[in-house]
Amino acid sequence: MNNKFDISFAQRLDLEDPLSKYRDRFHHPKHKDKNSIYFTGHSLGLQPKNATYYFDQVLEDWQSMGVDGHFHAQTPWFDYHKSLTDHVATLVGAKEKEVVTMNALSVNLHLLLTSFYQPTKKKYKILCEPNLFPSDLYVLRSQVELKGFDPEESIIFLPVNEDGVVEERDVYSIMESYKDQLALVFLGGVNYYTGQVFNIEKITQKAHLYNIMIGFDLAHAAGNIELKLHEWGVDFAAWCSYKYLNSGPGNVSSVFIHENQIRKNPFRLSGWWGHIEQNRFSLSQKFEAINTAEGWQLSNAPIFGMSIYRVSLEIFNEIGVSNLVAKRIKLSGYLEDAIMSFNNLSSKIKFKIITPGLAEERGSQLSIMINFDGQKIYRALKEAGVYVDWRKPDVMRIAAVPLYNSFEDIAKFYHILFKCI
Ligand SMILES: Cc1ncc(COP(=O)(O)O)c(C=O)c1O
Repeated sequence: MNNKFDISFAQRLDLEDPLSKYRDRFHHPKHKDKNSIYFTGHSLGLQPKNATYYFDQVLEDWQSMGVDGHFHAQTPWFDYHKSLTDHVATLVGAKEKEVVTMNALSVNLHLLLTSFYQPTKKKYKILCEPNLFPSDLYVLRSQVELKGFDPEESIIFLPVNEDGVVEERDVYSIMESYKDQLALVFLGGVNYYTGQVFNIEKITQKAHLYNIMIGFDLAHAAGNIELKLHEWGVDFAAWCSYKYLNSGPGNVSSVFIHENQIRKNPFRLSGWWGHIEQNRFSLSQKFEAINTAEGWQLSNAPIFGMSIYRVSLEIFNEIGVSNLVAKRIKLSGYLEDAIMSFNNLSSKIKFKIITPGLAEERGSQLSIMINFDGQKIYRALKEAGVYVDWRKPDVMRIAAVPLYNSFEDIAKFYHILFKCI
């Protein structure tokens, strides 16, 4: 056993951690009356204890003023989405006019691709990761078909190494080889399976050099890594709010559209909430788009979901993503050491972390390939109150989230894993 993972040592690390107090601002699922060890924030974040603060306001307003709440609620529902804009923009490094919160993630990806995947006879291909999240691939394939092309031939997958990780140089060389045929590069900012973080800035620069549009699914990136979407020149992106952003299952998504793209006023699928506000309710037959990302809205806003997202965004705003990242680097280093120390045992079970090792190439998630009895280990951990997840064929995903995980969680995990093995 390694002293570095003594509970008392981990507790000292927690005492030195300026963010440790935030742990108590979240509900942790219980296991035998005690807090479980929750390492699945990459899938569904924990519930903030004050999650219903604004939610209750909306219920009160609805109860007391009915339809008048659209304009007279404590935060009027007519433009409720604007109460999120400032924090959302800060979170991803955007201008306020470049972001809006609406719908759910896959829906938003369709809306964005409708505008920004504009293939021509020559330039119609899309470059993406082979282990793209399945919903993203369904979105891409159906968009390709909608525009009259053949997905089999139009979607190009990047090669990956034996761990499923994309080598950055391959992204550049393939973009260069296909530069005259590529209409779009579409990547997960953080790959859902391997936890690999892409060099969004450099890949974006290269794509633009070849006149290729570039977009990102940031579901595993928002609230997890530092983003400067405006400065990096990303054309568009979308993310959900229920993973690292802790807004609850299936909750709303936000999108980013670079002002350079907004200015071009491309084709979009339109709805009344994207119509300019001044005469939205005059219900004219002619659509006039708001000239910000809000112009992509379709329906009036799902206020209840947004009210929870709002609480969560306030926590991020209070701490600042860079402080979270600083803690995350320490936490994931500690977790990595804990896992790798088991490879020194004389067991036939071996762990391989396939997530790249450099701090800038990973976020909170570590993806661990287990050569033997992986699913048994996963189930034993679950029975012992440790939340991790399993992705076929042989990967356990585990995230120590700086907002609510502690060094003590990791030390406890180490001892439980030891018993499981
Ligand atoms: C990377 C990624 N993209 C897309 C989705 C789909 O999100 P939604 O169901 O909110 O459309 C998920 C869901 O987990 C995801 O992880």
